Amino acid sequence: MVEKASAPGKIILFGEHFVVKGIQSIATAIDLRVTVSLEERSDGYVYISSPRAGIDAKISLESLLRAEGVLAPLAGLLRYFKDRYGVDPRPFNLHVESQIPVGAGLGSSAAFSAAFSLAYSRMTGLTLTRKEIAMASLEAEKIAHGRPSGIDSTIAVYGGSILYVKGEEPKPLTLRLPEGVSIIVADTGRERSTRQVVEHVLSVAERTRPASDHIYSAAGEIVRLALQAFASQDARLLGILMDVNQGLLYSVGASSYEIEKLLFAARRAGALGAKLTGAGWGGSIIALVEDFLAGRVKEELLRSGAREVFSTGIGAEGVKSES
Ligand code: PMV
Repeated sequence: MVEKASAPGKIILFGEHFVVKGIQSIATAIDLRVTVSLEERSDGYVYISSPRAGIDAKISLESLLRAEGVLAPLAGLLRYFKDRYGVDPRPFNLHVESQIPVGAGLGSSAAFSAAFSLAYSRMTGLTLTRKEIAMASLEAEKIAHGRPSGIDSTIAVYGGSILYVKGEEPKPLTLRLPEGVSIIVADTGRERSTRQVVEHVLSVAERTRPASDHIYSAAGEIVRLALQAFASQDARLLGILMDVNQGLLYSVGASSYEIEKLLFAARRAGALGAKLTGAGWGGSIIALVEDFLAGRVKEELLRSGAREVFSTGIGAEGVKSES
């Protein structure tokens, strides 16, 4: 029997980087998902195909459990299920169908680990709570990213939108985009190390104190105003707040030429506002766009070098079984 499960990617709407020093941030699940199909085998081999990640492999279960590199998070999950729930690793066919660009700061690895954890738990006869799936996903994220903030796994598992403050339980938010606008996400095509950007931003902040203290507190105010703009469904204000948030991110060194090029392309084509999302220096940008201008903005983004472009709503459903 095939166990199928899917989970969403994420974007950070407001507050990335500033969140590292205690400022609140808003993240939300997007309409793009990773879908995992899992079927038990009995011959000791694991077959993995993931066109997006460029993986098409047959590997013995023993080798998989020792795997490094791109398969390390998967190996980590199998070990986690063994240590935590006493589930002996078993061979399977795994097919991963992802709508989420890889390495673009959109949470594809957390969406994978959440969907895999749900499918694997069902294949092995476990019934896990969402919290338990989130813990498993976070384990895999630690292997993939070192010190994940937990935003990606939380969104992949619970979906919706959250207010995230470092060290606190994420607070669920009921956010709705104003009528007639959506978010356009564009991938710069440049992959980067979140850790490196975070270190750079922290060093800029450190060297420019006390000026940077004002930048950080302004970022906190932007998040508060954004919550109000969502409450009053003020699309124009949301756009302006995205632009201001971007200015703050630029000022602490998180932007790049590729990002700015896309942001200006989106604004020139009529976006209400635009900013980088996630770590910056590449990765993805988001723009708030009135629906009648979406086609034009997407075209302009592609012309300006975006690798992939798509429209999304916010607050998509979290991990779920598709069997
Ligand atoms: O690009 P991502 O999804 O890894 O986002 C990183 C978000 C930061 O605020 C820059 C770092 C963090 O851990 O919150």
